[in-house]
Amino acid sequence: MADIKCIGILTSGGDAPGMNAAIRAVTRSAIFSGFKVKGIYRGYRGIITDEIVEFKTQNVSNIIQMGGTILKTARCKEFMTPEGRQLAYDNLKRHGIDALVVIGGDGSLTGARIFANEFDFPIVGLPGTIDNDLFGTDSTIGYDTALNTIMECIDKIRDTATSHERLFFIEVMGRDAGFLALNGAIAAGAEAAIIPEISTEVDQLAELIQNGFRKSKNSSIVLVAESPVTGGAMALAERVKNEYPGYDVRVSILGHLQRGGSPTAFDRILASRMGAAAVDALMEDQRNVMIGLSNDEIVYVPFFKAIRNEKHVSRELLNTLHRLSI
Ligand code: F6P
Repeated sequence: MADIKCIGILTSGGDAPGMNAAIRAVTRSAIFSGFKVKGIYRGYRGIITDEIVEFKTQNVSNIIQMGGTILKTARCKEFMTPEGRQLAYDNLKRHGIDALVVIGGDGSLTGARIFANEFDFPIVGLPGTIDNDLFGTDSTIGYDTALNTIMECIDKIRDTATSHERLFFIEVMGRDAGFLALNGAIAAGAEAAIIPEISTEVDQLAELIQNGFRKSKNSSIVLVAESPVTGGAMALAERVKNEYPGYDVRVSILGHLQRGGSPTAFDRILASRMGAAAVDALMEDQRNVMIGLSNDEIVYVPFFKAIRNEKHVSRELLNTLHRLSI
């Protein structure tokens, strides 16, 4: 094993429920195996600005149930420059940190990859994002909680949609990915999901209108993935108002409430397993890999594969949604 004595841990990019469970798991597994642990506040920025403190097991007590991240998070422009990364490297060395565990989404793992290659520094990543857009893992930490939040919101909006016989466009997060929209639509029994992955193939809105949304019902709920490709819920609603004035249309943008809240059991277990696996990976001399879960097994996914934007939506899920919305 590379001579690792002290592991630094940070969260970066958008917060996601389950990040705290991951911080706890990395900290405790590392201490269990004899490592020193240092918590780095505010992501990569905290390495540069020296916001680094030693973590003992008590530092991560009573956090497994908390949303957000106790380490705070940030998106750091300075870390994108070679000078910023040099400062970061010097500071890590000064603190005696020999390896890093980075919890974050594709932007954070891209930064990790560049840094790890530049300085030959061992880094293991954990997929922490509600978007579920990292290749090589069936689920990312936070995705399940966000999905449940979306489902609960739609259950509530459905009351109004049904009572007023309205057409609702509900915009959900996902950056450029439609996983939250597609699975959210199935979980909430919505009529359709408009997602970027197939926006270039068909005019999904025109198809819906032509099919009369849901023929047997007067109200409809359509999930829209935020993305320049789908145009977003507002633009779609405007289009319906102009082209099909017969519909009583409303828009709900769920926004950041999707990122908050106590993590589900699934996300806590996922984060705990992945956090422990990150320490195992470092002990096995793995570096430049993201921990993934595939068919309920821990896997190591090289950073370059995880962030290549090649996670595809399942046609089976699309078909299921389509068939169940008649
Ligand atoms: O990556 C997580 C995410 O919530 C995306 O779904 C969304 O596009 C983005 O972050 C929003 O970022 P911010 O919180 O910086 O507005």
